[in-house]
Amino acid sequence: MTTSRKLVAGNWKMNLLREEALALTAEIKGMMTTDVSSACQIILFPPFVHLTSIVQLCSDNTRIAVGAQDCSEFSFGAYTGQVSAEMIKSCGATHVLIGHSERRALCAESNEMVRMKIQQALKSGLTPVLCIGESLAQRENGLAFSTVNHQLEEGLFSLPATDVAKVIIAYEPVWAIGTGLSATPEQAQEMHAYIRGQIAKHIGDKAAAFSSILYGGSCTPENAPSLFSKPDIDGGLIGGASLKSRPFIDIVKAIG
Ligand code: 13P
Repeated sequence: MTTSRKLVAGNWKMNLLREEALALTAEIKGMMTTDVSSACQIILFPPFVHLTSIVQLCSDNTRIAVGAQDCSEFSFGAYTGQVSAEMIKSCGATHVLIGHSERRALCAESNEMVRMKIQQALKSGLTPVLCIGESLAQRENGLAFSTVNHQLEEGLFSLPATDVAKVIIAYEPVWAIGTGLSATPEQAQEMHAYIRGQIAKHIGDKAAAFSSILYGGSCTPENAPSLFSKPDIDGGLIGGASLKSRPFIDIVKAIG
């Protein structure tokens, strides 16, 4: 991957059968050559079972990275159904989503588990993409910033600065995910600037300026240009709109 902060990632969640996943990847790959400026980098996050095939399909394109949607907090052993960071790495993937709000809500993932997963990912040489964000109730009660700070403090900031610097952050307000109700560019920028400020306290201003902070939550080709025009929004983590090549590529084009 590039050293640039700018990137767009597609989180396919639990969607797409094998043939559909391969077809979508082939379309995206083609459009990355024909439609998108050579500076743009993307990451695809397919379900585990498609990882190896999609890594192979993208192996001749240095602008497309592939990652998993989760990893275990453990290295190996009797954890039926779990997948370790090292296994993901051995499939050729380079990134892993950690602490997505759906996993926090549906699988009761705590900040402590999130921190352990980040450690596993880094130990295996994967780049973690740490997902954080407040619920609607937390925002309405004026707790958006303290919630996000708590997630960073417990999930990330106890790690050494050199590790913190390697982590990509995805700010995904829970109320914006899959609802069609994106944060406004101003709301997102305010939170991204706050997150970068908190990171700067731990790793310094200079290093924090290189941290990628992505926005996620009902991102579309229509709202991406205004979101990505903000100084602290370095790209997007896209759910629904990443399941079709045209809207996904149009969002990628919005990072310029
Ligand atoms: P949507 O783009 O469907 O709102 O999902 C965002 C998301 O959860 C990406 O991880």
